[in-house]
Amino acid sequence: EKGGHDYFMLKEIAEQPQAIADTLLGRLSERGEIVLDEVRLTDQDLRDVDKIFIVACGTSYHAGMVAKYAIEHWVRIPCEVELASEFRYRDPILDRSTLVVAISQSGESMDTLMALRHAKEQKARVLAICNTNGSTIPRESDAVLYTHGGPEIAVASTKAFLTQLVACYLIGLHLAQIRGVMYADEVSAVVEKLQQTPDSLRTLLGRMEEVRELARDLKTASTVLFIGRHVGYPVALEGALKLKELAYMHAEGFAAGELKHGPIALIDEGTPVVCVVPSPAGRGVMRDKVVSNIQEVRARGARTIVIAEEGDEDVRAFADHLIPVPATPTLLAPLMTTVPLQVLACEIAAARGHDVDQPRNLAKSVTVE
Ligand code: M6R
Repeated sequence: EKGGHDYFMLKEIAEQPQAIADTLLGRLSERGEIVLDEVRLTDQDLRDVDKIFIVACGTSYHAGMVAKYAIEHWVRIPCEVELASEFRYRDPILDRSTLVVAISQSGESMDTLMALRHAKEQKARVLAICNTNGSTIPRESDAVLYTHGGPEIAVASTKAFLTQLVACYLIGLHLAQIRGVMYADEVSAVVEKLQQTPDSLRTLLGRMEEVRELARDLKTASTVLFIGRHVGYPVALEGALKLKELAYMHAEGFAAGELKHGPIALIDEGTPVVCVVPSPAGRGVMRDKVVSNIQEVRARGARTIVIAEEGDEDVRAFADHLIPVPATPTLLAPLMTTVPLQVLACEIAAARGHDVDQPRNLAKSVTVE
């Protein structure tokens, strides 16, 4: 049942290329338009949207954080991301022209469900991104885009996360197109890049041996820090969350630029710091900033584990361990950069002798508030 893998988590990590391909399947019409399923909102409703809130928990919240970058860049509508458990208690300003996007693998997270009920009471439109057909969250939403990740058994979310990213990208592109901010050919150019990600991911998954070795090395670390910028920031948070939940180790993710405002004081001789480096193409400025952050932590004794685009040879000088990932456009890069972090957490947990698929104190779907 684990398809030859030691854990469901490893099986599900390996299934990610297929899960992405399945989630993309049939989404692009012959006219180059994005086709969403069960979207009981008219194009006019979507054109009237003037603000987007994304609500979710845990890993799904990290997918929402990535989505904000893509949606604001493509659609040019303000988009906020909020932890579902915090959303309704601060009395958010919502009305008919607000679109609330609820992201949930299980479709049963109580925090997310309560956030969406609150949004509906305030007359906002609710669109769910969900991996579980017929679950409560999609049933109570005005529209739903299903991720076709297939069942996820391991408590730690992996393929659900990547397919949630794909769903968010599709929603962003769809909104941009129907609102006239992007032309059909611009949309299909991005979709084409998305369609290339399963192959790139297969290549990446074929090279995880080094990450496994590294995991054996890091299993006794007392803390592991993760830094990233732009979409690499939620990836850093996700890497840290995986390590906490599976390896029961102290781990924290930071926006790389925030280091100097406090967290850099944590760096000691040998502290492992995982650095997610943006692509040198396009926004090279961002990449250079992260590289100087890497130099800063290294100067203070950090052991740097650098995830960077293959071909970015200059980073090698600052990396104690370099994990190259296939080139991908900046906004889509989390589809690559997250994967070594999933493998790292899984392998560290296994090396520490933990139950990878069923970590202590956690449940696959959290149906209490
Ligand atoms: O089913 P959901 O996507 O609503 O679940 C949200 C979180 O409980 C979930 O992502 C959790 O953080 C995972 N265990 C992370 O691996």
